[in-house]
Amino acid sequence: MPHPSSNQKDTESGLAGIMAGHTNICSLDETLRYRGYAVSDLVQCSFEEIAHLLLWGDLPTATQLEAFTGRIQHAAQSIPQTVVCCFQGLAETSPQTSIMDVLRTGVSLLGQLECDNGPKESPRAHDLSQERMKAEQLLGQVPALLATWIDCLRGESPSRWPNKPLAPALLEKLCHTKASNIATTVFNTTLILYAEHEFNASTFVARTVTSTGSDMHSGVTAAIGTLKGPLHGGANEKVLHQLMDIGVPENIEPWLARKLNDHEVVMGFGHRIYKTGDIRADLLGDACHRLIYSDSTYEKHQKLEKLAYKLEQLLFEKKELRPNLDWPAARVYHALGLPINLFTPLFVVARVSGWTSHIIEQMGNNRLIRPLAKYVGQAPRPYVSIEDR
Ligand code: COA
Repeated sequence: MPHPSSNQKDTESGLAGIMAGHTNICSLDETLRYRGYAVSDLVQCSFEEIAHLLLWGDLPTATQLEAFTGRIQHAAQSIPQTVVCCFQGLAETSPQTSIMDVLRTGVSLLGQLECDNGPKESPRAHDLSQERMKAEQLLGQVPALLATWIDCLRGESPSRWPNKPLAPALLEKLCHTKASNIATTVFNTTLILYAEHEFNASTFVARTVTSTGSDMHSGVTAAIGTLKGPLHGGANEKVLHQLMDIGVPENIEPWLARKLNDHEVVMGFGHRIYKTGDIRADLLGDACHRLIYSDSTYEKHQKLEKLAYKLEQLLFEKKELRPNLDWPAARVYHALGLPINLFTPLFVVARVSGWTSHIIEQMGNNRLIRPLAKYVGQAPRPYVSIEDR
């Protein structure tokens, strides 16, 4: 019989409130900051500036940005043929597969093709620059894997990755048309806000993998598997299913009452750390509003916005729960015409910057991550041989 306390929500459950290490990359005190800069200032940057800040420690100069963006584009244009062939086969045999699984397999394959065996035991600065190069490659390759999979599903050969910064290039690849300025700006904002978030579950997994001396591709592969879960990255897809499920404003109250009665969580609300509001949800919520009320293109999304606003108000009244980033992100992606099963993969595209920065930080000052568990099982008992059981 399990120990009576094993189901209790004690202070240690889910490692809530436990300081599990040090980082120079991101802080959540007062407001969210990447390497000391408030995200409310950083949302005016391009995604590449943010990725450079996270990976290299500083915002780039114009010259550095041009070179960095070029390297990412080059990586996006160089998906190995072995990966393309594998995706073509998988698109035939399992077209319904989750795109998160496709990305997880894709990154794992890239690691195998590169023979990534990780840094030396005590990496010097030189080895870490090589790891940064691998991270830059992944920044270009992961969105290209996504676009390649979509081409394979349509039975088309992968088309060339555009010579553009990541946000407009990816939007163009996914929507098959050139996006408007406001669409590109708001899409870019989602990538910046999804880029990094301290010791969240997937980043912690990536650091744990790295702490064993394993390689960057293994860390990112494990992180993608972790992000897939609906309590983490998978929440943004569930948000939209939920809104669709509610349908019309009259359904909100009974729908919510049923959820709360059944002790089910409402996706896109609540957060382990932000109990009084998530700055990312505020910033993207404003951007989402600007997008949807910008012109007649988005008029048909205004109903959904009103529905979302009403649910937000009601959930606050009933449970004092506030939205997290996935709440506006799902609505932005939907308004941009992106299919729901791309929402969490887009989170991956952005978070590769945070994961790889943490992997490199862990490599630079490593100690095996190996916590303890409090035993709550059977008391010691005598062994009984099989014939006497
Ligand atoms: N809907 C309904 N109730 C919620 C809720 C939600 N989204 N989030 C938290 N709660 C409730 C919990 O059930 C709990 O109630 P209880 O005290 O009556 O048991 C209370 O609020 C406190 O929550 P807590 O258990 O401390 O939250 P957590 O830190 O363990 O979990 C999340 C955080 C993110 C996993 C949780 O809020 C959640 O599942 N949210 C929905 C999924 C989501 O949007 N994920 C994306 C996160 S960025």
